[in-house]
Amino acid sequence: MIKNTEQIYKAAEYIKNIIKTVPETALVLGTGLGYFADFIENKQIIPYKEIPHFPVSTAPDHAGQLVVGNIGEKSVMIMQGRIHYYEGYSMDEVVFPIRVMKALGIKNLFLTNAAGSVNLDYRVGDLVILNDHIKFFNDSPLRGENIDSFGPRFNDMSDAYTKKLREMAKTIAKSENIPIREGVYSYMPGPSFETPAEIRMLRTLGADVVGMSTVPEVLCAAHSGMKIFAVSFVTNLAAGILDEIKELEYTDDSKDNFNRLIKGMIAQV
Ligand code: HPA
Repeated sequence: MIKNTEQIYKAAEYIKNIIKTVPETALVLGTGLGYFADFIENKQIIPYKEIPHFPVSTAPDHAGQLVVGNIGEKSVMIMQGRIHYYEGYSMDEVVFPIRVMKALGIKNLFLTNAAGSVNLDYRVGDLVILNDHIKFFNDSPLRGENIDSFGPRFNDMSDAYTKKLREMAKTIAKSENIPIREGVYSYMPGPSFETPAEIRMLRTLGADVVGMSTVPEVLCAAHSGMKIFAVSFVTNLAAGILDEIKELEYTDDSKDNFNRLIKGMIAQV
C-alpha cells in the first residue's frame, strides 16, 4: 500500500496558510473533554471538513475542528474531536491528523481520552497518566510502506510515553494538589464496551484502564519522534465491576483537576 504522503503535505499546507505560525504542541481532546477548547484565546477555528483529505469525526461529542490559539503565553493546536477506528475509518485515516501535525513541525503531542478503569483501586473521576499500552487488535497505522522521512521501519517504543513529560505532569499534579495515578492503557476496538471476561483478561495482563482510542495515534507519533504525553479520564468502572456500564461520568471536580493539569503541562512544556 502506498502511503498518502502527498495528501498529508497538502493538508498541512492548507492549515499553515491559515495559522501562519505553527505551535510546538498539539492536544487531542477525548470524548466528553471537547469543552477544554473553550479555554483557548485568540482562536482560529478550522473545521476538518474544510481541510483537504482530512477525515471528519462522526463520534458523539467530537466537534470535528482544529482550534489554534493561546493558553497563557503558549500557543497550541487542539483537535476538538478525534477520529476512531470504530467509526469505520482505516488506520491510515485515523492517524492522518497526527501525520499532518508532524508535517507541520509539531513536536509535542498531548493525548487525552475517556477510559474505563480496569484496576480495582481506581475510581470514576481519576486521572491516569499513561506510561505504556497493550494492543492486540486492528492493524497498525505503520503497516505498509514506511514513510522513511518520518521514521524508521522498526521503531523503538521503550519511551513512547515520554518519561520527561510524565515526570513534568507528576510535578505539576503535586504542586497543584491534583490527585493523579499512573498506569497502562489497553486498547480495545469497540464500539461495544468490553465483556467482563475481556476486562478480567486485561487486568491479569497488567492493564489499568481501557479505551478505544489513543494507541494508533501513539504508534504514529512515536514513529516520527514526537514527544507524547497521554492521560486518561476515568469515566466509568470497566465491564463486570458493577452490574452494568450506565453512562460516562464527568464530575466537576475531576474536570477541574483535568483542566489544571493540562493547562500546567501546556505552560511548562
Ligand atoms: N471501555 C472502552 N472504552 C471506554 C470505556 C470503557 O469502559 N469508557 C470510556 N471509553
